[in-house]
Amino acid sequence: MKFFVDTADVAAIRELNDLGMVDGVTTNPSLILKSGRDIIEVTREICAMVSGPVSAEVVATDARTMISEGLALAKIAPNIAIKVPLTWDGLTACKAFASEGRMVNVTLCFSAAQAILAAKAGASFVSPFVGRLDDNNHDGIQLIEDIRTIYDNYGFKTEILAASIRSVNHITDCARIGADVITAPPAVIKAMANHVLTDRGLEQFLKDWGKTGQKIN
Ligand code: E4P
Repeated sequence: MKFFVDTADVAAIRELNDLGMVDGVTTNPSLILKSGRDIIEVTREICAMVSGPVSAEVVATDARTMISEGLALAKIAPNIAIKVPLTWDGLTACKAFASEGRMVNVTLCFSAAQAILAAKAGASFVSPFVGRLDDNNHDGIQLIEDIRTIYDNYGFKTEILAASIRSVNHITDCARIGADVITAPPAVIKAMANHVLTDRGLEQFLKDWGKTGQKIN
């Protein structure tokens, strides 16, 4: 399973990247706003740090302007994945980019039907939003499972990039199902290391070690 980090916070990406935990990065307009940085500048910095795909999102809603924005974003670095929304115009732009051999991440996917269209349009990645479905009383993890089954049924090559990940359980569920990639905020990735029994066990070991009066060096 590949780990993408869902942020435009350069320091947070660097910390995880130094540990080999980063296979790519996803950004969106809200994350760019949160970073307080210029989109081109911050995306260039991220692309220089991370060797895997870095998703940068277009903001136009018509295919023609999406294509010109996508080409401008692709100029930033060779590892840009152009992110387009899962609309008919987004799929049109996706097809145009894919035909030129460019990486495309089709985002805002909320149904298996949409995911089929993204694959047919040649997307490198489709991003189903697990957390936002859960927020609206749908089953986000079930959608990942459905897309996995459908893509495997037909040998679609588009990678399932599980997005809107809110918890460690989302990540392990996605791994169990066979999502190709998850993108999660840095805090959720770091929370994967936490376990109450690890903390309790460590506390006991250190207490007992103190009683031995020994030192290792
Ligand atoms: C990733 O590509 C998405 O933009 C992101 O995962 C959305 O997450 P959110 O629902 O927490 O905003």
